[in-house]
Amino acid sequence: MSALDIRGLRKAFGGNVIIPDVTLELEQGLITSLVGPNGAGKTTLFNLITGFLRPDAGVVHYKGRDLVGLTPQKVTRRGIARSFQDLRLFNDMSVFENVLVGQESSLSLWGRKQHYENTEAVLERVGLSAQRDTRASELSYAERKFLNLARIMALDVDLFLLDEPASGLDGPSRQTFHALLRSLKAEGHTVLLIEHNLDIVREVSDRIAFLNKGEVMAFDTPDRIFADDTLTDLYFGTANRKKEASACSS
Ligand SMILES: Nc1ncnc2c1ncn2[C@@H]1O[C@H](COP(=O)(O)OP(=O)(O)OP(=O)(O)O)[C@@H](O)[C@H]1O
Ligand SMILES: [Mg+2]
Repeated sequence: MSALDIRGLRKAFGGNVIIPDVTLELEQGLITSLVGPNGAGKTTLFNLITGFLRPDAGVVHYKGRDLVGLTPQKVTRRGIARSFQDLRLFNDMSVFENVLVGQESSLSLWGRKQHYENTEAVLERVGLSAQRDTRASELSYAERKFLNLARIMALDVDLFLLDEPASGLDGPSRQTFHALLRSLKAEGHTVLLIEHNLDIVREVSDRIAFLNKGEVMAFDTPDRIFADDTLTDLYFGTANRKKEASACSS
C-alpha cells in the first residue's frame, strides 16, 4: 500500500528548474532514504510535500487526497510531520516547553493533559527526561538533534519526513537514532529520511530513492542501489569515490 504518492512534481525558482519532474511512491510502514548530492533538491522536495513551497505542477496524494495548496499546519493535521535541516529550536525555552509548544501549534485535537503526558513519554523515548527543565541552548549538539526529533515524534502523525536528523552524531548517538527509527517503524509509521552518511542509509533503509538534479534516478532496495557503480560515481565523482566513501563513513 502506498503512504504517499507524488506524481509529476515540478518546481522552478525564477528560470532555474530545480525539480523538473518527480514521481515517487512511498510504501506504507517502510523507511525510505532520499539520497543525492548537495543541491540535488532533497530539502526542496520536503518543502513541496509539506506546503512550505507550492509546486508549479504535479500532485502529492496522501490518504487519497491531494496536499498541494494546503498550508504546512494543515499538512501536519493530515498526518505528516517534518524536521528541518537547520534545527529550529526555541533556545530560551526548556526542553519540555520545546516539545509541548510544537504539539500545541500543530492544532492537535488533544487536550492539555494529554499534551503534557505525551511530552513526558517522548522525552523518555529520546533519552532527554533528565534534561526536561534545561534550556535548549544549554544542550549538547547531539541532545539538540534528539530534541528536534522529539518535537516531531510528539505529533500525532503517520508519516515522518526527516531532513538529516543524524548528521554529525557520534557512534553511540547514532545507535540511539537507529533504535528510534526502528521503533517508529515497529509502530507502523512511514519514514522518508534525508541522509548523507551512506553507512546509516545502508543500515536503516528499506528503500532508497536517489535524487540527482531534481530527478529520481533510481528507486530500489539498498543492496541494488549500492551495487550500481553509476550511482556511486554520481554521488562521489569517479576519482574521489573511494577516498570520500571512507571519509563519509568515518
Ligand atoms: N527558495 C529558493 N529560492 C531559490 N533557489 C532555491 C530555493 N530553495 C532551494 N533553492 C536551490 O535549489 C537547489 C536545491 O536545494 P536543496 O536545498 O533542495 O538541496 P538539497 O538536496 O537539500 O542539498 P543539501 O544536501 O546540501 O541539503 C539549490 O541549488 C538551491 O540553491
Ligand atoms: Mg537539504
